[in-house]
Amino acid sequence: MSRLLVTGGAGFIGSNFVHFVLRETDHTVTVLDKLTYAGNLASLDGLPEDRFRFVQGDITDAALVDELTRDHDAVVHYAAESHNDNSLDDPRPFLDTNIIGTYTLIEAARRHDTRFHHISTDEVYGDLELDDPARFTEETPYNPSSPYSSTKAGSDLLVRAWVRSFGLRATISNCSNNYGPYQHVEKFIPRQITNVLRGERPKLYGSGENVRDWIHANDHSSAVLTILDRGTIGETYLIGADGEKNNKDVVELILTELGQPADAYDLVRDRPGHDLRYAIDSTRLRTELGWTPRFSDFAEGLSDTIAWYRDNEAWWMPQKDAAEARYRAQGQ
Ligand code: NAD
Ligand code: DAU
Repeated sequence: MSRLLVTGGAGFIGSNFVHFVLRETDHTVTVLDKLTYAGNLASLDGLPEDRFRFVQGDITDAALVDELTRDHDAVVHYAAESHNDNSLDDPRPFLDTNIIGTYTLIEAARRHDTRFHHISTDEVYGDLELDDPARFTEETPYNPSSPYSSTKAGSDLLVRAWVRSFGLRATISNCSNNYGPYQHVEKFIPRQITNVLRGERPKLYGSGENVRDWIHANDHSSAVLTILDRGTIGETYLIGADGEKNNKDVVELILTELGQPADAYDLVRDRPGHDLRYAIDSTRLRTELGWTPRFSDFAEGLSDTIAWYRDNEAWWMPQKDAAEARYRAQGQ
């Protein structure tokens, strides 16, 4: 049994991980989360009180981070400013949380020799052409495009340097686009589902041709637990479930599932610097650590996710007006 400190556990993927860990293992979990606009305590409802604790705080708070890191066996670091569009509007919080926050955590983990797992993204590798047969591997050079992805790349490099220079017991994972319950309505899939549920049209950036490699958040969680259990210190593992889809196809699936004509969407202003395509080769994780995803059928996972948003309007409705107001101001 281990005591896990999960940063950003009130966000989308962090909360899915906390539910997964408490369901599938006998570990205890402490969540450290600032509760920014993206954090939501309601995502942590119903967890067993004897194995779960919530601490509201900032990962740049060195004293708090030191105390919590000292009292745990491992830190699983999800906390981040995570939305590309916001990073184009105001990059500063991305530098503070993603760079300084990660630095604060690895310094504490170094002092207390605490096992550290850093959650990162495939966006650190930049993008691929639509017709390129290549996929990202652990050897692909870093080439981030946005303020968000460049701060994630910076945080990965800090972790790598702390492993080499200070012997930090760390692993890193770079995952592709997640979908599932508890994702903020600013993100692509929940934005379109909740638009249709409110009688509004989905909004596709540019021509809708951009490709993302979708993985269910539960599969991301099982991969992270596998790396925590069996990963080699100092290694990076790419996490993906062979889920490449272009944005137009995803919107058409959502519209059809919700009984609307497949073409009832609007094309809106493209994202500046919009990455064209992401694709993950997760061979290392599968062959060296024996991980396999459970959600192999994207349409089925998407259908479950649509049902979750339909059944949990009280969870997402309070975020919706503010998110749409921000998009309207950007012409999106
Ligand atoms: P999210 O925005 O839904 O959640 C982020 C959480 O971090 C929120 O609960 C927020 O309150 C918290 N947080 C932000 N700043 C903080 C601070 N300074 N101190 C403490 N807590 C703070 O993000 P997400 O989509 O769940 O992403 C989680 C992690 O996974 C991020 O590191 C992201 O880069 C990575 N990731 C995301 C995806 C994806 O598809 N969403 C894919 C790969 C990797
Ligand atoms: O690849 C992993 C990354 O996936 C994570 O690191 C990020 O934290 C996460 O937000 C996600 O980044 P993307 O920029 O790919 O996700 P987003 O949901 O913002 O957009 C997905 C695609 O959909 C992208 O091509 C932009 C497009 N899009 C997005 C929105 C919000 C639209 O066409 N319309 C929209 O309204």
